[in-house]
Amino acid sequence: MGDRRPRVWVSQPLFDDVVEPLGQHFDLTTTGEVTAYTPQQLAEQLADVDGALITLNERIGAAEIAAAPRLRAIANVGVGYNNLDVDALSAAGILASNTPDVLTETTADLGFALLMATARRITEAERWLREGQWGQWSFQTMLGADIHGSTLGILGMGRIGQGIARRGALGFGMRVLYHNRSRLPQATEAEVGAQYVDLDTLLAQADHLLLVLPYNASSHHIIDAAALARMKPTATLVNIARGGIVDELALADALANGRLAAAGLDVFEGEPNIRPELLALRNIVLTPHIGSASQATRRAMVQLAVDNLVAALGKGPDAGNPPSAINADAVNAALAGAAGAVAKKTDDAKR
Ligand code: DGY
Repeated sequence: MGDRRPRVWVSQPLFDDVVEPLGQHFDLTTTGEVTAYTPQQLAEQLADVDGALITLNERIGAAEIAAAPRLRAIANVGVGYNNLDVDALSAAGILASNTPDVLTETTADLGFALLMATARRITEAERWLREGQWGQWSFQTMLGADIHGSTLGILGMGRIGQGIARRGALGFGMRVLYHNRSRLPQATEAEVGAQYVDLDTLLAQADHLLLVLPYNASSHHIIDAAALARMKPTATLVNIARGGIVDELALADALANGRLAAAGLDVFEGEPNIRPELLALRNIVLTPHIGSASQATRRAMVQLAVDNLVAALGKGPDAGNPPSAINADAVNAALAGAAGAVAKKTDDAKR
């Protein structure tokens, strides 16, 4: 191996001026065009690098890890990291990190924008106007649902959920209900203006339900036909988390048959492929996973990922302590276990 400079790979075009300083510490390979890697291509890219800066497009599991013997750090540019097999990374001693906090308010903004566009039928109305269907102003045109004064339900009450709660409670005078794996401290509930309820109550009482929970085995299709049946037929559903949280066929069926008023989706199970059943609907707003997509926030996410990667590979002011590592404890335990095993082997050999 010698003492070559560590190698770092950046999987997608990000912001050159933010990424290039990685070259101060590492041999840097960037990617000029948006690329959809096959698992084989991804494994090849990772085969000889010490660290990688990746996005949600790149799925890293046991096979990719096995093909990457030098890999020590993965910096995910995004807060959600369901594209990573964190247990497998930890077992291999690879530090993984994500980009929380910097995107909280921007993503909460988009959640609210999508809620308003959906409940007030903004994109549907625009399509209708552009189609030349607006013959005369009328009282019955594009009647939607009120936001102000209604009941906002939030499923998943992390930082982004709390940002949405504040907007609803303080900006729009909404009654805000939430459900989360763990209840927030009372002081936080009071600050964000939200009240904890069980999932059934949330589904039954929300006029608008926003999904902001992490995607994992227990949240897969948590919004299925049975959950949709518990919601008000006049309700709006908005998903800015991950597509797999919603059973999209059940949702399309509920929207087509008047069992739910409207939906706003920023994320999709098979994205970028969208089910024809969703595309065919009138009462749905669809955006291409742009929750955190403001100039300033996307730059801040890349900067945080760069800082994480530099630190995870033992360089810079946070050397050894990436600002937002996901699995630091598990990696330390795995490395300590491996070191213990090596020490035992050496001791055994000496006996
Ligand atoms: C996130 O940060 O998880 C967003 O979905 C974009 O990556």
